[in-house]
Amino acid sequence: MTNDLVPAPVIVAEDLQLTFAQGKRMTRAMDHVSFTVERGTTLALVGQSGSGKTTTARTILGLQRPDSGVVRVCGQEVHALKPAELQKLRRRMQVVLQDPFGQLNRRHTVQRIIEGPMVAHGYLDAPGRKQRATDLADAVGLTLAQLGRKPQELSGGQCQRVAIARALAVNPEVVVLDEAVSALDVSVRAQILNLLSQLQRDIGLTYLFITHDLAVARYMSHNIAVMNAGRIVEYAPREQLFADPQDPYTRALLAAIPQGIHRKGLADV
Ligand SMILES: Nc1ncnc2c1ncn2[C@@H]1O[C@H](COP(=O)(O)OP(=O)(O)OP(=O)(O)O)[C@@H](O)[C@H]1O
Ligand SMILES: [Mg+2]
Repeated sequence: MTNDLVPAPVIVAEDLQLTFAQGKRMTRAMDHVSFTVERGTTLALVGQSGSGKTTTARTILGLQRPDSGVVRVCGQEVHALKPAELQKLRRRMQVVLQDPFGQLNRRHTVQRIIEGPMVAHGYLDAPGRKQRATDLADAVGLTLAQLGRKPQELSGGQCQRVAIARALAVNPEVVVLDEAVSALDVSVRAQILNLLSQLQRDIGLTYLFITHDLAVARYMSHNIAVMNAGRIVEYAPREQLFADPQDPYTRALLAAIPQGIHRKGLADV
């Protein structure tokens, strides 16, 4: 584990509020959003399109300032940090997005893409970076030949592996994954989810895992927060949420899961 001195939990969101104003239209993207994520665990944030998941993720990452409320990551208050301090914290919290191609620079090779955060954060020397990129590529199941290719020469699943390798390059403690497997077909999705679980077990990563898909949330998470219209309507340990959902919106989401997946659970997503 990278830093035993940091007190758990690793992510704290306290009473986040944010309203977007577009002309006369006001959207409450976050309405009293609070949760915590303990080190080495996964909080799945689920909810339908427009419920405020990405806004919450961006706020945790320090990319979006809330109207009010506090975010702490690794013990630091994200929105109170100076830019240089936030940049330092960014090394410890990385992000993987939904779009396998859009998040990677098409002009760069996979090798260079994975080395990108190491260069940006002054992590290791040039030979060290090269070696680490190779090791990471291997860890996420990319071949040496693929290291020399560009994103458009890879499949969606391979690009997502590149994005994960890049996110891990600077040895983060927290990874925010926003619909990171949604664009992938079922078999590739299962491989990537297994890979993420394996990495969590191996290096104690903490995940904020955003998905609209409760079956995926069930496979990945320790705790689940259900968002609807900017509010967390239910927040419970995974098994409790599936066994005894309290909120009508959660029940509706559960009812929408194909029965086979719902019943079979973990191994079969
Ligand atoms: N920059 C912005 N300006 C105005 N409104 C915004 C902005 N960003 C998000 N919103 C609105 O805030 C609400 C929450 O959006 P958000 O992107 O967080 O939802 P989401 O749960 O991630 O949805 P999806 O599953 O489609 O990705 C939506 O109604 C959206 O239109
Ligand atoms: Mg989103």
